[in-house]
Formats: sequence, C-alpha cells, structure tokens
Amino acid sequence: TNKTDKGMEAVKKIVALIIGISLILLAACGGEDTSSSGEELKELTIATDAAFAPFEFMNKGEVTGFDVDFATAVLEEAGYQASFDNVGWETMLQNVVNHKADLAVAGITITDERKETYDFSDPYFESTQLILVPEDSNISSVKDLEDKNVGVQISTTGAEAAEKIFGTNSDQIHQFDQVPLAIMSMEQGDVDAVIVDNAVAQEYIKNNPDAKIKTVEDKEAFDSEYYGFMFPKDNELTEEINQAIETVIENGTYAEIYEKWFGQTPDTSVLN
Ligand code: ARG
Repeated sequence: TNKTDKGMEAVKKIVALIIGISLILLAACGGEDTSSSGEELKELTIATDAAFAPFEFMNKGEVTGFDVDFATAVLEEAGYQASFDNVGWETMLQNVVNHKADLAVAGITITDERKETYDFSDPYFESTQLILVPEDSNISSVKDLEDKNVGVQISTTGAEAAEKIFGTNSDQIHQFDQVPLAIMSMEQGDVDAVIVDNAVAQEYIKNNPDAKIKTVEDKEAFDSEYYGFMFPKDNELTEEINQAIETVIENGTYAEIYEKWFGQTPDTSVLN
C-alpha cells in the first residue's frame, strides 16, 4: 500500500544517508593516514651523553654522530621516529630504569653486570679500551700505570678497567662526568693517562692534532667490548629493534653510515 511504500522509501533514504556518511568518514580517515605517513610515526626518546665523538656529540645545537645516524635508521626501519635527549651519562643510565627514556644509545658496552638491570639489543659495534697519554710519556702498557694517576669517565667500562688495575676505591683513579673533562685534566697534568674507548681516543687525536697526545694499546689487558642499545628490563621493544638492526646491517645502510663516520668498510662478521 501507499503507507508501506512511504515507509520503504524512508528506510532507503536512511540507509543511503548512512552509507554516504560512512563513505565520507572512510575517505576522511584514509586521507589523513596517507597524507601524514612521515609524521604519525610513534616517537621514541633515546637518552644519550653527547660528549663521545664520533658516536654522539653536539654540533650546532644538534646531537650528531655515528650512533645518531645508525639508531635513527634502525628506529625508522622498525616504524618509529628517533628523538635524542642529551641528558649526560649518569642521568641517561637512570632515565632508562625510570622509563623517562624508551632506550639509551651512547656507545654503551654490553656487560653482564649491566644485563642485571637492563636489556640490550644485539651488538652493533666492536670496541676496546685504549690508554691516552701525553706524547712524551713513557707509559707503554697497563703495567706502566702502576704508580700513575688515571682519568676515566664515571660508571664506564674504562672506569671498570681502572678498578681492575688499581682496586675499587683507589685514589689513583680520577672519575669525571664526561670523557672530554678527563682528557683536559690530562692535558693540564693532573692525571698521567686516560682510559677510554679506542675509537673515541683516536677521534680526539684526529680532531686535536696540536694536543700532543698519543694512544697506547694493551691487547692483553683490554678485551673486546660490544656496543648495544640499552632498554629497560623486560620490555617489548628489544625484539622489534633487533630485527630492524639485522635488516639495517644486511641491507647495506649500516656500511654506508660506518663509511661516513670511519672512512672505511666495516667488518660486520665481528658482530656475530
Ligand atoms: N663503552 C663505554 C661504556 O659503555 C663508554 C661509553 C661512554 N659513552 C658516552 N656517550 N659517554 O661504559
């Protein structure tokens, strides 16, 4: 009858309206997704200590370095945007525990002791400790340090190495908040040597040709160390980030970044 026809028509109109609105909403949401793909990535805060060239250092107000390029590439591969937060070494260590940072990247050596407090990614860089001394020093091995004063960055594997040589609370160990402060103290003659990561020691000499300092190796005293990204314990990110690290190493991005900062091709087999 007339009445049901009218009813049907109303229902049709409503259905059409609902479909119309749905399509508009779909288009709107879809459009938003594609137009903002780069900006909508979840941002992860990376705590760091940007006084460790060439891994992380400040340049024109920006944190820059090998770690910055590598971590940014890895996070992007995993679908995140990296935001570096230069809070200094010890605050960095705390911020990861307190979840004020999602992770830390700062040439951080993976150690058994740290693994009790943190999770680590797979290794991405091989390192070892070196001794920095004034050019005219006759220190030529760890043994020669016995009656000397050494500078180290506090809570680092360099500090640990010094404790192994001198004992835990030795007053021959001078602890500094930052590596450059330890080196400055040596230049002023307050300490005789600095124990620090090899690539950082070499970079310092490269950047300060007039500093009149040299490196001393001691392969027997100093083992290989491996850098990893540091996470709060039992988090879900580590596995995701590990996969991205693997991809970035395998697809050549790692080698590209390595060449940019170290001027040579990396031997990635040392990471396995
Ligand atoms: N590799 C050493 C460690 O983990 C030193 C790292 C220092 N890094 C820095 N950005 N200051 O203890």
